[in-house]
Amino acid sequence: MPWNKNRVTSRLGIKYPIVQGPLGGLASQRLTAAVSNYGGLGSFGAHGLKPQAIREVIGELRSITDKPFAINLWVSMEDDGAFVSDAKAFERSLAHISGHITTLGGKPPVFTPYSAIRFEDQARVIIDEKVPVFSFIYGLPPNEILDECRRMGIILIGGATTVDEAKALADAGVDLVVASGFEAGGHRGSFLRCSDDSLNGTMALVPQVSDAISLPVIAAGGIADGRGIVAALALGAEGVQMGTIFLPCKESGASERHRYAILSGGAAVTALTRGFTGRLARGIENQLMVELNAPETSILPYPLQRQLIRNLTSIAESSGHDELIPMWSGQSANLAKSTDISEILDSLVQSVSEIAGRVMLWGENG
Ligand SMILES: Cc1cc2nc3c(=O)[nH]c(=O)nc-3n(C[C@H](O)[C@H](O)[C@H](O)COP(=O)(O)O)c2cc1C
Repeated sequence: MPWNKNRVTSRLGIKYPIVQGPLGGLASQRLTAAVSNYGGLGSFGAHGLKPQAIREVIGELRSITDKPFAINLWVSMEDDGAFVSDAKAFERSLAHISGHITTLGGKPPVFTPYSAIRFEDQARVIIDEKVPVFSFIYGLPPNEILDECRRMGIILIGGATTVDEAKALADAGVDLVVASGFEAGGHRGSFLRCSDDSLNGTMALVPQVSDAISLPVIAAGGIADGRGIVAALALGAEGVQMGTIFLPCKESGASERHRYAILSGGAAVTALTRGFTGRLARGIENQLMVELNAPETSILPYPLQRQLIRNLTSIAESSGHDELIPMWSGQSANLAKSTDISEILDSLVQSVSEIAGRVMLWGENG
């Protein structure tokens, strides 16, 4: 059986079991469509978008690909404290970055109460637009939404960071599960226990999830070349989801400085932080992360911290202060070598075939 013919490829109607991770916040229609057009599954992370903007993204995607693609949402859109967080809390958190903002010539922001985007309203667009694939993290959508998706023939992919989460997703009737190890760039989408208590590495998580559920498993976290894909398949996964390797692509939504940092070895040290958004996520360890990870730092609930930090990001980017820019990255960033999507995918597909051939030879020689 060729490596690219399995339940993931047949369920999703794709040629290669390679999923481009949603890259919420840095997603781009062109990247998503290019991966889907190649024969993988392109995903678009839409959690930060209002329903009308999601509708427009879907329309744009449909104008540049006729292949399956995924729209990704976060089931939990904010931490509980977001609705009650007040001006005092805002000032306390702002104090940690206001010096940087003024030094770079900016004006510190003022407090505005949280204005929510509802997951249910975003999901409504996905159902109305009948997107081919709906992927999600940070929880389980309400049953009515899952049922409606199934009625519309929308394939459901749920994200798990623990075996128990994978079982909960399987019990809820999703079609595929992404098992995400803590090597991954971006947020830890944990939902049954707090994310700090759900930090499993891909190598440990994937085989246990594969044993625990009968659904096809997609491995994520630290996979960035053919060796990683073959390893994931050997661990019981039937597909992989990669994010960091696509960040340097010309078509990605990452800034030029972010793309350069990843390609030039600037992401050699990554770490987990709540400081960039309020929720635990992996990025390049820089001055800003170290300062915000200090125990005395006040961090606002998600997404208020994210909105606060954006004020610094915009001026740090325009003035070229990489040490003060949140830059998402997984632990395998140094394996990223190219800015060209087709080159990346060609090289993955070719090297998987070569390695798989070698592995079969070991079997014959043994
Ligand atoms: C910048 C960035 C944003 C991400 N946003 C999302 C998201 O919105 N939803 C999601 O399910 N995964 C998200 N991820 C995780 C990726 O989809 C993918 O699972 C992960 O990047 C795989 O690990 P890797 O970074 O080691 O390749 C994001 C990752 C990065 C780097």
